[in-house]
Amino acid sequence: MIHKFNFVFIITLVITLVLISTFAQMDRAIERHRAVRLARQRRAPDSNGDKRSAFLKDYYFYDVYHKRSHDENIKANPRSTQIEKNPKICIVGAGLAGLFSALLLKEAGINDITILEYQDRVGGRIHTHYFTDNPNDEKRLYGELGAMRLPYIKGRPDLSPHQLVFDTVEYLNEYNKKDDPNRVIKLIPFIFSNPNALYYFNNKKASSGEIMTSNYSKSIGVKQLGLPDTIPDNYLILWDDAVKPFYDELDKNFTNGLINLKRYDHHTTYSYLKEAYLPKVLPSKKPADYDEIISAIEVQEFGTGDFRHYGFVPTVLELYTFSDPNYNISWSTIDKGMQRFPNAYLPMIKKENINLKYNSEVYKLEKTNNSNIKVFWKNNRKSVSETFDRVIVTVPLGVVRHWDLPLTLSYKKRNAIREIDYEFAGKIFLQFKSRFWEKPPSESGANPTTSNIGIIGGATFTDLPIRTIAYPSYYKGTSADKPGILLVSYTWCNDAKKYAQFNEEERFELALKDLATIHGDIAYKEWVPGKKNNKAHYWPNDRTTGGAYSYFGVGQLESLVGAMIRPEECIHWCGEHTDIHNSWTVGALNSAVRVVKEILLENLMSDKWLKLKNTRLLNHWNGNLEVFEDY
Ligand SMILES: Cc1cc2nc3c(=O)[nH]c(=O)nc-3n(C[C@H](O)[C@H](O)[C@H](O)COP(=O)(O)OP(=O)(O)OC[C@H]3O[C@@H](n4cnc5c(N)ncnc54)[C@H](O)[C@@H]3O)c2cc1C
Ligand SMILES: *[C@@H]1O[C@H](CO)[C@@H](O)[C@H](O)[C@H]1NC(C)=O
Ligand SMILES: *[C@@H]1O[C@H](CO)[C@@H](O)[C@H](O)[C@H]1NC(C)=O
Ligand SMILES: *[C@@H]1O[C@H](CO)[C@@H](O)[C@H](O)[C@H]1NC(C)=O
Ligand SMILES: *[C@@H]1O[C@H](CO)[C@@H](O)[C@H](O)[C@H]1NC(C)=O
Repeated sequence: MIHKFNFVFIITLVITLVLISTFAQMDRAIERHRAVRLARQRRAPDSNGDKRSAFLKDYYFYDVYHKRSHDENIKANPRSTQIEKNPKICIVGAGLAGLFSALLLKEAGINDITILEYQDRVGGRIHTHYFTDNPNDEKRLYGELGAMRLPYIKGRPDLSPHQLVFDTVEYLNEYNKKDDPNRVIKLIPFIFSNPNALYYFNNKKASSGEIMTSNYSKSIGVKQLGLPDTIPDNYLILWDDAVKPFYDELDKNFTNGLINLKRYDHHTTYSYLKEAYLPKVLPSKKPADYDEIISAIEVQEFGTGDFRHYGFVPTVLELYTFSDPNYNISWSTIDKGMQRFPNAYLPMIKKENINLKYNSEVYKLEKTNNSNIKVFWKNNRKSVSETFDRVIVTVPLGVVRHWDLPLTLSYKKRNAIREIDYEFAGKIFLQFKSRFWEKPPSESGANPTTSNIGIIGGATFTDLPIRTIAYPSYYKGTSADKPGILLVSYTWCNDAKKYAQFNEEERFELALKDLATIHGDIAYKEWVPGKKNNKAHYWPNDRTTGGAYSYFGVGQLESLVGAMIRPEECIHWCGEHTDIHNSWTVGALNSAVRVVKEILLENLMSDKWLKLKNTRLLNHWNGNLEVFEDY
């Protein structure tokens, strides 16, 4: 009996165990299947994209990403609740984000402000390189190593996300016009495009043997442009059509447009075109054809590799600023150099007793026992430290990554600092005895072009290593026989990296060679050699940045940017990379408004915030913070 009972018991037990493990395996298989399906769906929103994305938002992002990230941060990352009557504030970095933060804090009545700046000038990535001793002379021998153009919409400041830049310029001009009129900023047109600028791809010239203008290149077919016949003649229109629906949504309501767009954050531009868009509009083509079409679009619109390296969403946002067809976008620059923008803050810094310390390289932030932050920096190799109530960090992440930071920073914050992608960019400026490019080629002896018209402003595009030649707008009205600086090469992504292994003089020679291919030997004849007459800058090698500007990778907008901008441990995170208009000056300014808002609200000074927000200066500020669910 006992034996029999034992036998039945054991059999039952074995069957139960087998069943349990089978169920568990089935469960795992289902999970795995679901994960694969999800991954596939994440990669393939087609005509059904909206519904699937809504499903993903509900299921994947909420359940998996959103909830989990929140749980982790709730304990590790309480928002600071410390209240200070007159907070003592340290701003790290005197780029536009740092300078504007100081201005706004001062406007709000907060006056204990220290700015620590590594360089011996203000401006950071606004950096005009002057080739003359006197930046104010009329020769205008300068080049913009960083930002060079500012977009706006004529007559409709309410429509432009970049309007805050112009409002700030106006504010500073008002501030300076009486006591420091030499600091007043003069905006001049930046000539963005020019039908007479040139086009040189696939070693092709016009059938006449002349170099094509960009206008001419639009009038001929892909075969004459040297492209394989897998590529349809309208391939660039296909691209415009691919992004147009997103622009339309952004124009209707920017915040809603972003929320819509963000559903595609799991795509690169490559995967979006290849899997979601091209099969829909060109169903008869083969996948290999799609690759050729995508590559042809990329080389025209962006840097080599950009479509595969970065997210689709940041690419759409970047191009939206350049080419939204719903508006005529106008462009400005600052006469005698963008550097005049940050410099225009200097009188205010002096008058308001803001403590600006140059040559101060921050390397460590430490939480003190009473929850303040101790900032460590080096000044002429000497270590210095001081304790502050709050710190605003505006420094690019390539630098912050190497700092010693409080060990209590959240998991997500540390990931964001480590992961957020930056674009690579390089510029090569050469100096010439005369501005031969501004004269008709028949007059200057340059290579004949299909228009025989000189080029003032705009850009020549090419697949040669230099990729983009940008002609200065600011010589307009002065004789082309005078010397000039030409941006012979402006490159991004892999195109920029391909110059990294060369020293500066080698880069000059390489750029000159390509310039001569397009404009002719006159480039050699007119060049003014020498290191002090020419300038090449590769931003990833710049130790104040470690990259050009943030350019979010796949999924980063959805998963990292909110965590990046959230304040932790009385540290407020500022700078271009903490705003939806990252990679633009307006992004730096927007982020300054946000951190000042954080500081005022956390110190229960909402009255001061409301007053500040309602000033004319912030009339057009829109933080679009609704987009970052976990901010
Ligand atoms: C090649 C290029 C082209 C661009 N073109 C345009 C354009 O045409 N139009 C446009 O609107 N925007 C453009 N931008 C973007 C624009 O320049 C930036 O978004 C903006 O200037 C960033 O300002 P920021 O204050 O966030 O950062 P930054 O200007 O980088 O300021 C950070 C500051 O921190 C300092 N710093 C660094 N390390 C330390 C440290 N350890 N301790 C203390 N201080 C430190 C730096 O010296 C710097 O002054 C361009 C940028 C680049 C690189
Ligand atoms: C552009 O090219 C067309 C011919 O294709 C010509 O009619 C037109 O005048 C050109 N425009 C400019 C601004 O050169
Ligand atoms: C855009 O939409 C958001 C959210 O739906 C709304 O709060 C906001 O007022 C809208 N903005 C404009 C300018 O209509
Ligand atoms: C843009 O400018 C062109 C030429 O001035 C004009 O014909 C067109 O209507 C403008 N478009 C918009 C959207 O304002
Ligand atoms: C915190 O307090 C301990 C003990 O008093 C002291 O050793 C330490 O240096 C303090 N740390 C900071 C950052 O002030």
